[in-house]
Amino acid sequence: MCGIVGYIGDKRASEVIIKGLKRLEYRGYDSAGIAYHNGTLEIKKGKGKVAKLEQMLEGGNSAKLGIGHTRWATHGEPNDINSHPHTSSSGKLALVHNGIIENYASLKKMLEGNGCEFYSETDTEVVAKLIESLLEKDPKDLKKAVQLALAQIDGTYGLAIIHTDFPEQIVVARKGSPLLIGVGNGEMLIASDASAVAEYTDQVVYLDDGEVAVIKKDEYQVHTLDDDSLIKEVHELALSLEEIEKGGYPFFMLKEIFEQPKAISDCLRGRLNAKEGTITLGGISRVMEQLTDAKRLIIAACGTSWHSGIVGEYLFESLLKIPVEVEYASELRYKESLIGEGDVMIVVSQSGETADTLAALRRARKNGALVIGVVNVVGSSIARETDAGVYIHAGPEIGVASTKAFTAQVTVLTLMAIQLAQYKGTISDEKARKLISELDSIPKKMQQVLDKSSELDQVSDLFSYAPNFLYLGRSFGFPVALEGALKLKEISYIHAEGYPAAEMKHGPIALIDEMMPVVVIAGTRHTNDKMVSNIEEVKARKGRIISIVTEGNEEVENLSEFSFSVPEVADELSPLLTVIPLQILSYNIAVNRGCNVDQPRNLAKSVTVE
Ligand code: AGP
Ligand code: GLU
Repeated sequence: MCGIVGYIGDKRASEVIIKGLKRLEYRGYDSAGIAYHNGTLEIKKGKGKVAKLEQMLEGGNSAKLGIGHTRWATHGEPNDINSHPHTSSSGKLALVHNGIIENYASLKKMLEGNGCEFYSETDTEVVAKLIESLLEKDPKDLKKAVQLALAQIDGTYGLAIIHTDFPEQIVVARKGSPLLIGVGNGEMLIASDASAVAEYTDQVVYLDDGEVAVIKKDEYQVHTLDDDSLIKEVHELALSLEEIEKGGYPFFMLKEIFEQPKAISDCLRGRLNAKEGTITLGGISRVMEQLTDAKRLIIAACGTSWHSGIVGEYLFESLLKIPVEVEYASELRYKESLIGEGDVMIVVSQSGETADTLAALRRARKNGALVIGVVNVVGSSIARETDAGVYIHAGPEIGVASTKAFTAQVTVLTLMAIQLAQYKGTISDEKARKLISELDSIPKKMQQVLDKSSELDQVSDLFSYAPNFLYLGRSFGFPVALEGALKLKEISYIHAEGYPAAEMKHGPIALIDEMMPVVVIAGTRHTNDKMVSNIEEVKARKGRIISIVTEGNEEVENLSEFSFSVPEVADELSPLLTVIPLQILSYNIAVNRGCNVDQPRNLAKSVTVE
């Protein structure tokens, strides 16, 4: 996803900005650029990586003020001319933008009618030209020109603007695309993601939609579009540099796979009391009544978070006895909305910035539903706009392919389901204590799985060049099958499908032959017999069986060409263990195929555009 970094202070701006853009690289992008000025505006930009931009800056410059951008193209192909920053006609103003200007075509037509000439195909360039056309009305006030321009704009933006006539300020604005101010000592930073400022300050101000800020080296002022000034809360960043660095791993994804025992321990800390058999989630304590009285629960999410939502569905229905609908947020927001008073929506999002999920929660809240967030990034838009919520405390997840966030999301949904079931009285004390005690042992069991991960090397090598994979699971194994297939797809570019095992006979069985590796997730005891039949059906057609089993499941192991076992655990908690070998399998295959594991092609860590 696109990224913005800006700096004003006493350091060399280009150095701070390049470092910051490198911290945002994990989000995925196609071009990079920077604008800085010490009287005259300099711009370096082009298609390609930040490293290439860094080379363009060789010889350095002493500018103390600048803005930088990594682009994820929406309007205009990824090329040098379409990359950001974009400039005004006078060449005095430079601007970078995250998001989409929905009405750029009509604005462009209006500006062309007034003699403006455009050099790019982007929507963004229109904003630069529009601001300059309005600045002429009041040449002394850049902020005002920005406010006037934004009043004419439909769409989403995170914007940063500099102008040579205003040498000591950066103007920023936010609507639908995250932007924060890093408050330093005699210096200020702006960024679309906290990881770009963590090295310089732990004091951050999150802008909200409809806000514009003027940033100077010793101060910042925040205003609404109508120019009402605002006092914003300064948050302390709970993000250490060490957490952002790779820590000796070749890729962030591998680090995050191996961080899962710690991530789940952090997620459980202060919330699960195995001795007492209790769970305390402070974030939902004041809405327990509404949650347990809900007619139904709607879980809205995208991608991996949608998969954890399906685990949540099985948990809430079996423990809380409330019907659950899991919806793709992108579909939900355009369906006939029947969500309203009395309904509860749970939105699941690692980044807390996914545009479709944010839109779905806004619509549900507008219609009177109670919306709960299950989010990783503290202070993110989704976290701040829900009625209540539970942070997953997985720590920063840099790899585009989500791993520890998935298991932490599932852990939080499990905690919620047990606590609500205890509150509502739909779970026996014995069952609750058993699940709580097993949940407490998950970090240790995860470590046991990770300690034997080299057992997956041989099967990874064997199938690294298979053209397709099929993943099959039943009950709690079904969402794991979906997640395993997504992991393989997104980092190795091998086509893979996850399917309910029984559904295989309604079509996919036609695909089975000796070239088709079939990964079977056999972690749930109550469906094992049926899973054995499915495995037999695949073998009868010469399919290659790779199974993920619970220790001791010799029946499935004996039927498999390759089998990996995980420790015994309650069916409800099995996704937390069975997903790990699938994460490692996809990682190994992607590395074997020479793929860029942390920044897979075309993908973004957080999809903040629709
Ligand atoms: C998962 O590996 C992908 N990176 C993607 O599907 C992701 O889960 C999806 O974009 C949702 O992101 P979110 O959890 O930040 O909302
Ligand atoms: N819509 C703008 C463009 O295509 C910005 C895309 C982004 O968010 O990086 O250049």
